[in-house]
Amino acid sequence: MTSTLDPATTRTPLMGQGINRLDAIAKVTGEARYSGEYPLDGMIYGWVVQAPIAKGRIRDISPASTLSMPGVLAVLDYRNAPRLSDAGDSELLLLQGDRVYYRGEAVAVVLAQSLEQARAGADALDVSYLAESHDVLLRADHPDMYTPELVNPNFPSASNVGDVDAALAAAEVVIDRVYATPAEHNNPMEPHATTAHWNGDTLLVFDSNQGASSVQMSLCRLFDLPRSAVQVKSEYVGGGFGAKGSARPPVVLASMAARLLGRPVRVTLTRQQMFAMVGYRTPTIQQVRLGSDWSGRLQALDHLAYSQTSKILEFAEQTAVVSRMMYATPNLRTAHRLLPLDVPTPRWMRAPGEAPGSFALESAMDELAQACNVDPIELRIRNEPDLEPDSGRPFSSRNLVACLREGARRFGWDDRDPRPAIRQDGRWRIGSGMASSTYPARNAPSTCQVQARSDGTFEVRITASDIGTGARTALTQIAADALRVELDRVELRIGDSDFGPAMIAGGSMGTASWSWAVVKACRDLLGQLDMHSGAVPAGGLLARADTKDDVAAQADVTRHAFGAQFLEVAVDIRTGEVRVPRMIGVFAAGHIVNARTARSQLIGGMIMGLGMALLEESLMDLRFGDYLNHDLAGYHVASNADVRSIEVSWIDEQDDQTNPSGIKGIGEIGIVGTAAAIANAVWHATGRRQRTLPIRPDRVIS
Ligand code: MOS
Repeated sequence: MTSTLDPATTRTPLMGQGINRLDAIAKVTGEARYSGEYPLDGMIYGWVVQAPIAKGRIRDISPASTLSMPGVLAVLDYRNAPRLSDAGDSELLLLQGDRVYYRGEAVAVVLAQSLEQARAGADALDVSYLAESHDVLLRADHPDMYTPELVNPNFPSASNVGDVDAALAAAEVVIDRVYATPAEHNNPMEPHATTAHWNGDTLLVFDSNQGASSVQMSLCRLFDLPRSAVQVKSEYVGGGFGAKGSARPPVVLASMAARLLGRPVRVTLTRQQMFAMVGYRTPTIQQVRLGSDWSGRLQALDHLAYSQTSKILEFAEQTAVVSRMMYATPNLRTAHRLLPLDVPTPRWMRAPGEAPGSFALESAMDELAQACNVDPIELRIRNEPDLEPDSGRPFSSRNLVACLREGARRFGWDDRDPRPAIRQDGRWRIGSGMASSTYPARNAPSTCQVQARSDGTFEVRITASDIGTGARTALTQIAADALRVELDRVELRIGDSDFGPAMIAGGSMGTASWSWAVVKACRDLLGQLDMHSGAVPAGGLLARADTKDDVAAQADVTRHAFGAQFLEVAVDIRTGEVRVPRMIGVFAAGHIVNARTARSQLIGGMIMGLGMALLEESLMDLRFGDYLNHDLAGYHVASNADVRSIEVSWIDEQDDQTNPSGIKGIGEIGIVGTAAAIANAVWHATGRRQRTLPIRPDRVIS
């Protein structure tokens, strides 16, 4: 037994193994219970009524005809809804007044004995509105555009090193381009769902989210309750992509309705309702200016990003932040502008910031490579920084170059003819492209309890969330490794706010942050066991860990995972169809805990990146002030038919300055760079640069 923090000396062969998901059988047999599936006695079903106007007031709600319908018990609206306190998220102050801030906002919940009766009652509910003219379109020259102080999650909105304008004026080569990305909607398989039940003044909710303690905290603030009075359970979650990263309307509406009726209430969203109520990725307009010498060495990098927010809450996407750490340049400026509109608040969607930001940066780098006649990989290697360009801090580890070289080798990049639009295969023009990838590797404080039971088994309790990532399996491996026991002696319990505060499954920080608390508690427990000569006393032994101080005491380094994406496209220049027959991703993301689930995360990210490049687009209907496509027939995500060969591998990276397990997150990095790599390959195939996503057929042939 050892208590050293050196990961190299503490790992057992369990770490890294591609163990099958421990919950796989529970999931495929239906034994795993999701938040909309808990049967409670006397359950009432709620159906959300949404505003059909983007801005204005409710003139009147006449519930009489709805209340006379079979099974309908009540209509919850702003006149009878419980009063809510501030939650630090004004979008959650639902049914508190007659104002409508965006189309699709909840204005009432019809409560009935069955879901069908609630839906029929909602269809019949008589609500009249006083509509006002709305403003819903992002444009860079809008007079209300402003500079936010901070961008998500808490970066300064602007940065400046050197004199970018002077360096651009003096540069031998200048690339000055505008790129645009559309609004995109998170579409996890499981729509948001909550089952809420009050027992006197204590509230129990089963809720589909990415972090039960975060939702617990929001409910405490909204309903003015101490933590001990609110329990949030989310044992199984069918995906989130950021849309479940914080409390969303269903949990608030269900909790209010359950309070009003004194009975358990379930509120589930339909796929269509999700398009207005749970967040989305902001559209962006980005200007990137690069100045270099003829050899491609950067003299200046300027990245200015425009995005939108709502009028009730500021969410500022960190679009240009990726440009602060990617490439070496003596003159570096980034800035963000934000436009409040009569729209729902944009939120997190897989790799907020890095996903749209890297599309612009990595496309511009490809344009620079073309202008300088330098190979795009060589261009990136020439601009590899020793220290973080913006802050001057050292990287805890940085293996971008290793990923570029390994990716090039696996792809066969050396044989590539750099000239565009010269390869043809029947009706297809063929091209290849690449882009760098990156994502921050941060940690947040978490708590954990580990119990040694007298039968030689261990119970680990942590408010972690497995949203389909495999975190449950990875954390069990980490615990067994730390305890030096076989996997089957560890029972891991997650998804219950009673286990104490913990980081959400977000920002690619979940497994990294939780692992730290798990390892700390396990080591404490091993120490206790040592004092008992290895024997568990009758009452068992318990260790608790809180990593608040450990996380705060970290070295002053900057932590990021890196990667490189290489792929081939086939473009039909008559129809504009783009296919991606082959994708290769190589990543350097610290220690990989579970080879199987990690591979799935990285592949999943790349597939989502393919969708981002070619398919995903929420189109604003200016007349109605809402996104036009509200289902998976109108909003296309990449499916099996879109994906051919995807190969993922990783560099064996040892990082002793991230956390005791040497883990960097892998949930988001897979999507970063994919869209640029596809746009770069489409240029190589056709000779035409695509600067607006998605790369639709009409854009290819126009
Ligand atoms: Mo992720 S978009 O940080 O949940």
